[in-house]
Amino acid sequence: MSQRTLVLLKPDAVRRGLIGELIGRIEHKAGWTISALELRTLERPVLEQHYAEHVGRPFYEPLMEFMSAGPSVAMVVEGERVIEGVRALAGPTDPIAAPAGTIRGDYGTITRENLIHASDSAESAEREIKIFFPGLA
Ligand code: PPS
Repeated sequence: MSQRTLVLLKPDAVRRGLIGELIGRIEHKAGWTISALELRTLERPVLEQHYAEHVGRPFYEPLMEFMSAGPSVAMVVEGERVIEGVRALAGPTDPIAAPAGTIRGDYGTITRENLIHASDSAESAEREIKIFFPGLA
């Protein structure tokens, strides 16, 4: 079933020059298409909406600070089973627990700087796409 998902390449990925590598991993999967893409430093109000469910968690403030410290790439990716698929490419939240071959397993070490965000469900994807690309239907 064709789906769409919201993907962020986080500030650590952009700072480390990994945009091309990470987009390549996504783009090379058969049938997946990037249908919207923007490089921008995410403002606090946008991040507050995006991470609303995590308010009050111990990692919330460090996460907000990290995510607003430099540019990210926001994208909408469309295709077969793309929601589950991009999360599988990303690997688990903690990069040390992430297997080799996943983005976090290959490039990450600390949990905060885990390179990529991908929506975790169809409902989250639609909510998040509206936050980052309000003009998209
Ligand atoms: S949960 O409990 O499953 O909802 O949490 P999880 O999906 O693992 O994490 C939610 C988001 O918070 C980020 N996170 C952290 N950031 C900074 N420091 C620490 N310690 C930390 N732990 C979790 C995690 O990467 C998730 O952000 P996204 O953007 O979805 O990857």
